[in-house]
Amino acid sequence: MKIKFEKTSIKKINSDAYLFLCFEDKKLFQEELNIISNLLKCKISKVSLEDFKGKENQTVLIYSEKQRIILSGLGLSKDLTLEKIRRATARGVKKANSLRIKRIALEILQDQTLDKVEMEDVSRAQTISSILALYNFDKYYTKKQSKETTSIKEIILFSQYNSLAKYSKEIESGIKTGAIIGNATNLARDLGNEPSNIIYPESLADFVVEKSSKSKYSVEILDKKQLTEIGMNGVLEVAKGSKREARFIILKYSGGAENEKPYVLVGKGVTFDSGGISIKPAAGMALMKVDMGGGAAVVGVFEAVSKLGLNLNVIGLIPCVENMPGGNSFKPGDVIKAYNGMTIEVDNTDAEGRLILADALSYASNYNPEVVIDMATLTGASIIAIGNVASIIMGNDQSLINDLIKAGMQTHDRVWQLPLWDDYDKMIDSEIADVRNTGKTRQAGTILGGMFLKRFIGKFPWAHIDIAATAMRDSESDYDPKNATGSGVRLVTQFLKNVDMMRSSAKN
Ligand code: BES
Ligand code: ZN
Ligand code: ZN
Repeated sequence: MKIKFEKTSIKKINSDAYLFLCFEDKKLFQEELNIISNLLKCKISKVSLEDFKGKENQTVLIYSEKQRIILSGLGLSKDLTLEKIRRATARGVKKANSLRIKRIALEILQDQTLDKVEMEDVSRAQTISSILALYNFDKYYTKKQSKETTSIKEIILFSQYNSLAKYSKEIESGIKTGAIIGNATNLARDLGNEPSNIIYPESLADFVVEKSSKSKYSVEILDKKQLTEIGMNGVLEVAKGSKREARFIILKYSGGAENEKPYVLVGKGVTFDSGGISIKPAAGMALMKVDMGGGAAVVGVFEAVSKLGLNLNVIGLIPCVENMPGGNSFKPGDVIKAYNGMTIEVDNTDAEGRLILADALSYASNYNPEVVIDMATLTGASIIAIGNVASIIMGNDQSLINDLIKAGMQTHDRVWQLPLWDDYDKMIDSEIADVRNTGKTRQAGTILGGMFLKRFIGKFPWAHIDIAATAMRDSESDYDPKNATGSGVRLVTQFLKNVDMMRSSAKN
C-alpha cells in the first residue's frame, strides 16, 4: 500500500472516497461541513447529519452526486488526543475498505493551534493507524473472499488548509516513519499469525536470516549442537519433547559507534506452547501459536530501527522452542542448570517461557549492555490483572521503566508497572534447587514471573514486559485485529527513537 502527501491542491487528488475527521463541537462541526461542501462542491444532506454528529465512535458514509464521503467522529475538541485521531482514522479507512475501493483521500487533522512537532506526530499517527487498520492475514484462503482481503492500495493525505504546506517537511517525515513502524508491526503480526506447522524454531530462524539479507542488520543462528556446547539448558530442556529442534537467534544492528554499549532486546520465541507434560486445556490452545509474539516483536523492532537508521547499537536475542508433551519431554520435578550455572526446579512445564528467558537474559550479559529489555507472552495472570488494554512492565531500574511507560503513552502500545519487591522472593524458593519455576500458590502470578527472571539478569538495567495480555486478541478493535497484534513493536521502537533523539540533542 502506498501513502503519500498531496500538498498542492485537493483538485489534483484522484480518489474513490474522501475521509474527513469531525469534531463534535457545534461550531467546528458546522465549519468542517462548510469546508467539505466547498471543497467537493456538494451539499451534505440534512438526513445524513441525523445519523452523524461527530461523536467518538460515529462513522458515516454519505454519497454526493460524484463522490463518496466518509465522516468519522473525534468527539469534543477539548478532549482530543492522538489516540482519538488514530481510532477515528482507523474506523474511516476500514469503512472505505468495506466499499472495496482502491484509493482514499484522507484529511490530515488540523486545528490552527497545532505546531510543527504536533503535525509530524499527527501525520505519523494517522499513517500508522491506517496501515494497522487495513491489516489482513489472508494468505491461506484459496478463494479470495472479498471481505477477507484489503482493497485499498493507496492513501493520499491532504489538508483543506493551504497553510499546512509550510509543514510539508514534517508531514512527509511523519508519513515516512509511520509507514516504517506500521509495516514493522504488521510483520510481527504476520509472524504471530503463521501457524506453528509453518513457523517453528528452525523456520523462524530461516525467516529472520532471509529478512536480514534485505535489511541493515545481521543475524547469527545457534543450533542444537552449539546450544549444547555453551550450556543453554533452559532452551534445550523445554525443546526436548518436540520433534522440532531449538534455535537461538541473535540479531545485530550497529547504528552507533563501535565502542558504544548496545541496547539488548530479548523476545520469548515459543512457536507453540501446548504446556508440555503440564498440558493446557484444549479450548483456546490454538492461539498459543502466538507464544513467540515477544520474538516477533524483536524482529519488528529491528526492521523499524534499521529502516529509521537510528544511531544506536542494538542486539536482539530470541530463544526459539516448541513446548510439547512426548516421551522425551522435560517433566515436573526435573532440575535444570541454566546458562549462568544456576539450578532451576521445574514445577510446571507450562511455565516454560521463563526457562528459555533465563538462558537468554544470562547470555545478554556477554554484551555488557546499556540496558536489557525483554518482551514475553509470559503469564495468563497478567490478562486477569490488567485486561487486554496494556502490557505489564517490571524491572530493576525505575528510570528505564519510566522511559518505557512514556513511550507506551506516546504510541498507545501501553505498559503499566507491577512491583518486584524482595518479599516475593521466598515464593519461588525451591527445596531442591536455587529457584523454582512457579509459585507455591496462584498469588502474584505475573510478579513471580518477573521475580524469577530478575535472578538471571545480573547487574544490568533491565525491564521485563509481559505482553500476554496484548499480543493476541479474541476480537478486533479499531486498529487492532483479532489474533496477533504485534504489540511491543511500536512501544520499543518509540523508546529507542526517544533515546536516539535525546542523545543527538545532547551532542548538539
Ligand atoms: N504462554 C503462556 C502464557 C499465556 C497465557 C500467554 C495466555 C498468552 C495467553 C505461558 O507459558 C504459561 O503457560 N504460563 C503459565 C504460568 C504458570 C504455570 C505459572 C500461566 O500463565 O498459566
Ligand atoms: Zn506455558
Ligand atoms: Zn508460553
